[in-house]
Amino acid sequence: MLEVANVGVRFGGLVAVDDFSMTVEQGSIHALIGPNGAGKTTLFNSITRIGPRTSGKVYFKGEDITRLPDHRMIHAGIARTFQNLQLFARMTVYENLYAGYAFHFKRPLLSIFAGSHRAFEEEVRKRIANVAARTGIRSALFSTPQNLPYGMQKRVEIARAIISEPEMLLLDEPAAGLTYHETEELDRVIYDLSRKNGITILLVEHDMNMVMKISDRISVMSFGRKISEGSPREVAGDPEVIRVYLGGEESA
Ligand SMILES: Nc1ncnc2c1ncn2[C@@H]1O[C@H](COP(=O)(O)OP(=O)(O)O)[C@@H](O)[C@H]1O
Ligand SMILES: [Mg+2]
Repeated sequence: MLEVANVGVRFGGLVAVDDFSMTVEQGSIHALIGPNGAGKTTLFNSITRIGPRTSGKVYFKGEDITRLPDHRMIHAGIARTFQNLQLFARMTVYENLYAGYAFHFKRPLLSIFAGSHRAFEEEVRKRIANVAARTGIRSALFSTPQNLPYGMQKRVEIARAIISEPEMLLLDEPAAGLTYHETEELDRVIYDLSRKNGITILLVEHDMNMVMKISDRISVMSFGRKISEGSPREVAGDPEVIRVYLGGEESA
């Protein structure tokens, strides 16, 4: 589904991502883990074209997406969330989702002017109800994000990302800052998006415990390089991974 081929990212003299390759299989939950500063977000941003890429290629369904104009990424079927929440704080959750939908589709915006406004509203209402149910945020639809528990805000962000019905969803540290209970709820939502809706998921996480439960495959990054890859069981038993994790944080 997604193939990262020899991607490198440099910031001046610093090699943040070093000749990194991995393949995310269609329908799977693939986790990318590693200590703080390993280069996970940099690689993630490079895949989604938010950040730079010094070398290498990224293919989505066989198409070289490093050549696509940025605004076409979402139309190609890839959606993402951010490590720090990027919701409109003063709009309701409903309006946030509405904005996510309107942003994705050019056609309905045109059809508003063509007079089918009511049909569009009805379509959006159904779509929002559907994603709200799938992410467990129905009770929050008419609140503003700032008044919601953090775990709920995280799920709102996921709801907004999937309203465009992407084939692939990239999540950057969705569990950061969540309580144990909120993390469990989030695990369930992510797992269901994969198993019930067939969305391919690339999950960037710092916490190995969280990804052990729901991932089909895990790639481990340290100092920009891939140091291990395999099933959760294989990765957890890899001496190199244990060394990196027990060796503490590598960021200065
Ligand atoms: N825009 C940037 N300019 C310079 N250095 C950066 C930039 N973004 C990230 N880095 C550096 O790249 C390395 C990887 O960072 P990052 O991708 O955020 O790691 P992770 O997400 O795994 O914690 C770090 O050493 C970080 O300081
Ligand atoms: Mg990061």
